[in-house]
Amino acid sequence: MNGKKISVIIFAFVLVLVLGACNQTGEETEGTEETEETEESSQVTYESHVEGIIEQSCISCHGGDSPSLMEFKEDPDTYIAQSQGPRLDNYEDLVVLVNGDDAGALMRRLDDGSNTEDGEPGNMYVNLGSTEEERQEELAIIKEWVGSWSLKRSDELTEEERAEITAVRE
Ligand code: HEC
Repeated sequence: MNGKKISVIIFAFVLVLVLGACNQTGEETEGTEETEETEESSQVTYESHVEGIIEQSCISCHGGDSPSLMEFKEDPDTYIAQSQGPRLDNYEDLVVLVNGDDAGALMRRLDDGSNTEDGEPGNMYVNLGSTEEERQEELAIIKEWVGSWSLKRSDELTEEERAEITAVRE
């Protein structure tokens, strides 16, 4: 082998090493970015996830034209006849049914039957999606948002249990 051939071989060898190293660094950087993105999006908030689900699946009967919870409770039959439930189109009205005066109402209505006494889903569960897969996906997001999925009523909840319900706005 002459000197020229040897230097060509050495050059090729070094090139392979350098390219290999660059490639590895690239992969590592990508990996780190992915982890950061997953961590960011894993925080389920009302604004990032829940508002959109309500808008898509519930607003037709719980929107701005619906009665407030107080109005609804005064005359439920009239509203039910019009297929209208109480307004749930904003954070304040929704959390009353999560950890406020009507704590657990949202959970009792949306449970898929795994936590109900009779094993039947809550009567609003069906509205979460058109397929069982879709309903389960949406339910999982809402459960994560609520933080501690309890079907208990407001007066049955202990202070500790109430504090475990997170349901953050943003
Ligand atoms: C087709 C209309 C309709 C849709 C869609 C609908 N609801 Fe309802 N909802 C009602 C009516 C009517 C009532 C009142 C009658 C009853 O209690 O079942 C009600 C009651 C409720 C209650 C009980 C409120 C209370 O007074 O404690 C909750 C909670 C609820 N709905 C949540 C939801 C959620 C969440 C969705 C979307 C996933 C949804 N609903 C979709 C019609 C609807």
